[in-house]
Amino acid sequence: MQRSEYFEKYNSEESRRLRASIARDKWRLQYHIQPPQGWLNDPNGLCILNDQVQIYYQYSPFEPQGGMKIWGHVTTKDYVHYTQHHAALFSDHSHDRSGVYSGSAYTEDGIAYIFYTGNVKHTPPEGKTYDYIYEGRGHNVILVTTTDGIHFSQKKVVLENKDYPADMSCHVRDPKVWKEKDGRYYMVLGTRTVEDRGAVLIYVSDNLHDWSLHMRLDADPKLGYMLECPDLFNLEGTWFLLSCPQGMKAQGDLFNNVYQYGYQTLDIDLSAKTYKFTSEFTELDYGFEMYAPQTFVDQQGRRILIAWFGLPDIEYKNPTTEQGYTHCLAIPRVLENHKGRLVQRPVPELRTLRRTSLSDAALTTDGFIQGVKDAVYELDFRVTQSFEVALRQDVKLAYDKDAALVTLTLGDSGYGREVRRLHLDQALMRVQVFSDTSSLEIFFNNGLYTMSTRTYFNEQDECVVSLLQGEVERPELYHLDSIMMLEAKKVDQEELEASQLSTPPAYPQGK
Ligand code: FRU
Repeated sequence: MQRSEYFEKYNSEESRRLRASIARDKWRLQYHIQPPQGWLNDPNGLCILNDQVQIYYQYSPFEPQGGMKIWGHVTTKDYVHYTQHHAALFSDHSHDRSGVYSGSAYTEDGIAYIFYTGNVKHTPPEGKTYDYIYEGRGHNVILVTTTDGIHFSQKKVVLENKDYPADMSCHVRDPKVWKEKDGRYYMVLGTRTVEDRGAVLIYVSDNLHDWSLHMRLDADPKLGYMLECPDLFNLEGTWFLLSCPQGMKAQGDLFNNVYQYGYQTLDIDLSAKTYKFTSEFTELDYGFEMYAPQTFVDQQGRRILIAWFGLPDIEYKNPTTEQGYTHCLAIPRVLENHKGRLVQRPVPELRTLRRTSLSDAALTTDGFIQGVKDAVYELDFRVTQSFEVALRQDVKLAYDKDAALVTLTLGDSGYGREVRRLHLDQALMRVQVFSDTSSLEIFFNNGLYTMSTRTYFNEQDECVVSLLQGEVERPELYHLDSIMMLEAKKVDQEELEASQLSTPPAYPQGK
C-alpha cells in the first residue's frame, strides 16, 4: 500500500465514521496501544529518538482480519501519554511490495537506522503454483533512516534471499540490530531451513550498510520448523535469546498455544563464533496469547519489552474484528535477570494511572472486593494459601498451594479461550492483575511468571471481582485511568513526500 492510498482511505468519510464508532466500542481498551482502525500485530522499531519512545507496529489499517502490512506509529515520553501518528512505512518499493514486515531500530547520533523485512510474493508463471515457503517469496532486509521518526530516507536493500545460506527456505525475517562492545553492529534474523528447522542467523557490519554472515544458532529440533522475531541481548551478565518458535508440540500444560513465545539462555562468544544453549526454551507467558516480543533500552537504561498481545492463526475469536479493529500491544514491561530467569515487571510509570483505591472496602466486605463494576483495574494481593478469585463473572483464577498450580479458566467471555494451567517451581507469594476492558495480564511473584488473555464480557455492569474460595492477603484494588492518546496533527502528505532524503546517510566517517 502506497502512502497516497493510505491517506485517501484513512481520511475518507467512511474511515472517520468507523474510527468514531470504534472509539465508543465497549471493548476498546483504555491503557493499551491499539490501531485507530484495522489490524495490529508485532511491535517494531522500538527505540528512543528525540527523547521520545518510538513504537511502530505491524498494521493493516483497512483489513481488520489482517492483510497487507505497513507500519503504524505511536510515540510516548512516559508510557502514559501517547501520540498516535499516521502510518510510517508503506509498501512502495519493489522489494517490499507484498508488505513491510517486522524489524527493529538502532539509533546513533540522533539517527534511527531502521531495518525491516520487505516481503515479496512473486506471481507464479502460468500453470504453476508457489507454496511461498520454499519458493516464490522474497524476504529482503531493507534499511531506512530517520531523524524524527516520521520522515524517512529512501529505502536501501541490504540483504536478499541470495545472500542467505543455501539451506534456508524463503522465510528469513525480522532483523533486530544492535551494537556490541567490540564496536561492531550485529543483526539477528529468524529463519526456517529447507529441512524445516528453526535457526537464527547473525550478520555483522562495520558501517550498518554492508552486512556479512557471521554465525548461526541452530535451534533444537523440538522447537519446530521456524523461529520468528529473534532478539539477542545480554542482561546483567546473562545472554538471552528471545524467539517465537512455530511447530513446537505441547508437553502437558506447556506450549499449549498455536505458536510459542519465550527464551533460552546461552553462552555465546561473538568473536570466537561459539555458542551453547544453557537452558531449555522457557515460555514468557502462560496464558492464551502473547507473541513477537521486542526489547530496547530506554533513557533510564532499562531493558523494556513490548509484545503483541495476540497470536497468528488462533482458533479462538476476537470479536472486535466485527467492529473494525483487532489486537493491541501488551503493557510495556521492564526486564530483569533473576538468576538466569527473565522477570517481567509492568513499567512503574503505570502507577500514575491509578485513580481510586479500594483496599479498605475490600478488607471490610465478606467477599473479597465487592461492587466493582469497572473492568479497568489493577489488583494486587499477597498469597499464603490456596484461593479462587473471580476476575470477571466468568473468569476465574485459582491457586492450589499443595500442587503449586495456578489455573485460569474462562467462560463465554473467552470466545474459545478455556483453560490454561501454570505449574510453579516455588510457592506463590504475590499476584498482580492488570485488567482492561477486554484484557487481563497477570503477574505472579513479581513478574517471574505471567499469564495473559483477552476476554470479552458482554455486560459492562457484571464485572464482579470477588473471592470465591480460600483467602488472599493485603488486597489492593485501583481503578485505572486511560492513557491519553492524542491524534497527530494532520500531516500534509505532500510535505512528507517532499522531505524524502535521497539515500540513507552514509555512516559517519571515522567510526
Ligand atoms: C510475527 C510475524 C513476523 C513477520 C510479521 C508479518 O507475528 O509473522 O515474522 O515479520 O509477523 O506481519
